Amino acid sequence: MSQTETIKHCLSVARRVLPNPEAEILTASALGLDRSTLYAFPEYFVSDKAAQRHKDWIARRVRGEPLAYISGEKEFWGLNLIIYPGVLVPRPETETIVECALPLTDGDSQVLDLGTGSGAIALALANETKANITAVDIWPECVDLCRLNADRLGLHVTVSLSDWFSNISRRFDLIVSNPPYIAVNDPHLKNDGLAFEPDIALCGGKDGLEAIRTIINEAPSYLRSGGNLLIEHGHNQSRQVASLFEESGFTEIRATADIAGTLRVCSGSMP
Ligand SMILES: C[S@@+](CC[C@H](N)C(=O)[O-])C[C@H]1O[C@@H](n2cnc3c(N)ncnc32)[C@H](O)[C@@H]1O
Repeated sequence: MSQTETIKHCLSVARRVLPNPEAEILTASALGLDRSTLYAFPEYFVSDKAAQRHKDWIARRVRGEPLAYISGEKEFWGLNLIIYPGVLVPRPETETIVECALPLTDGDSQVLDLGTGSGAIALALANETKANITAVDIWPECVDLCRLNADRLGLHVTVSLSDWFSNISRRFDLIVSNPPYIAVNDPHLKNDGLAFEPDIALCGGKDGLEAIRTIINEAPSYLRSGGNLLIEHGHNQSRQVASLFEESGFTEIRATADIAGTLRVCSGSMP
């Protein structure tokens, strides 16, 4: 044990450079403790190894690396997911698509998650419903990670490799997707954590809508009559995405806002 650094000291060092709750999450994770322990035993000394790891992690976070890549985990919909570089870090706003999907899902539903990444949406739905869930991604690392997260959480999701619908040969009651939707020349791609995340998870081509267009065009061939498509999109894409739903023959087209009040999910039904 180090005789110099207490839990309280570590937390105050993190708070000098990071906002809360990030300072707390980083400190607890780097010291291998629960967040509640930080406050229950502030005067406890930490080991030299843990103190050094804590310093290293703060330095990496200050350089802009996402905390999830540093700690190797991220909470989504109350589930603790393993995350590693090369896979998109699930965002809180993506919980909106889960909220929209739940009322459309029952025990018999066949659900497809396109571009599953870590499995965030598929696993949240598997945790909440008895639906039969299939998840696909074009990136083998994502397929492996989704399977790993499902196994660790004891949730059942069928995961496979597919370029959108290329390996899909049946119809579903519900298709959900958080596809890449940032335009390739959007300056935000250079911001904070985004620069560390994979282009294939973020970039939706010239106008940001390439992947969304493909999914909306092809989805009618993979939905049962009365089935629904839910797509997450960028903060300024709601109108364009709703038009694409209309052009593809969807009805009951709806826009739903995320927790920050930004229109974030478009949904439509196949007649
Ligand atoms: C914005 S990320 C979403 C990841 C995850 N669903 C989430 O919400 O955290 C987009 C995902 O789509 C995948 N993707 C990109 N192009 C794809 C394609 N042509 N076919 C299937 N998946 C694709 C990426 O690998 C990435 O995992």
